[in-house]
Amino acid sequence: MKEKTVEKLFDLKGKTCLITGAGGYLGGAMARALAEAGGRVVLTSRELGRAEEMARRLPDPNEVNHLGAVLDHMDFDELPKRFQAISEQTGCINVLVNNGHEHCPNDWTDISGEQFTRMLANASGYFLLSRLVHEQSVDSGQTASIIMLGSMYGQVSSYPDAYKGLAPASSVAYHTLKGGVLQLTRHLAAYWAQDAVRVNSLSPGPFPAESANQDMVERLKGYSPMRRMGHPTELKGAVVFLASEASSYMTGQNLVVDGGWTAV
Ligand SMILES: NC(=O)c1ccc[n+]([C@@H]2O[C@H](COP(=O)([O-])OP(=O)(O)OC[C@H]3O[C@@H](n4cnc5c(N)ncnc54)[C@H](OP(=O)(O)O)[C@@H]3O)[C@@H](O)[C@H]2O)c1
Repeated sequence: MKEKTVEKLFDLKGKTCLITGAGGYLGGAMARALAEAGGRVVLTSRELGRAEEMARRLPDPNEVNHLGAVLDHMDFDELPKRFQAISEQTGCINVLVNNGHEHCPNDWTDISGEQFTRMLANASGYFLLSRLVHEQSVDSGQTASIIMLGSMYGQVSSYPDAYKGLAPASSVAYHTLKGGVLQLTRHLAAYWAQDAVRVNSLSPGPFPAESANQDMVERLKGYSPMRRMGHPTELKGAVVFLASEASSYMTGQNLVVDGGWTAV
């Protein structure tokens, strides 16, 4: 077999890539990365207008016409219909980035049972969407790569002193969710490997948005081996790697981009 060049391995030309929560802080950079690598990108939001605007602004080197679409991964009854509507316009989805996330600010001191359960439902949404992609791939005989956004907080606890006096503690339900997302990844990867559907997680470390409490950000820097926070651009290479043939022998794994946070 002729050896493929690195350029070819990372090329997403001919691939349709769906990313949820594409208008978020990290979703925007990852959507641009998929587009710059040549893919056709389906950018979803819970608001159609926002999704369409994002699709219009995305680079389109191969003139593939990116698509903006509505999708709420917590609306379990609607998901199959929304996915079907998208697929009718694009054909088979080859790459799914489960990135969208419904937040809950409450920490272990005051979160209610209902709020905790609702947080965990983000994983249900990731699973249901992944299953739709798997089913479509098998039916159409195509390969797929599914990427789940995990977190360093799916692997380690937050330092109890990191947020004290500045913000609520990092959410206990969020930690439970992201730990579960990493295990969901391994489970689906094992079951779907023989169907040529790969499933991996991408776990960012601290990437606070500009709107985050700056005193908290300064304190968090002190906990990071690199003494700085991540910039969304620093996830672009990782998402294209997982989406593309460059990672063709990788499934069930967690790629951590955290400035060394979980190394200590
Ligand atoms: N930023 C970090 O430091 C960090 C660290 C580790 C992991 N992560 C993970 O990375 C992902 C992106 O984080 P981010 O910081 O970019 O968050 P963000 O800016 O809040 O973006 C999340 C997006 O998710 C969408 N969303 C909310 N509820 C949804 C639902 N029910 N269904 C589908 N989409 C929904 C929202 O878009 P619409 O309002 O347009 O629907 C929102 O823009 C998340 O999974 C997060 O847990 C982030």
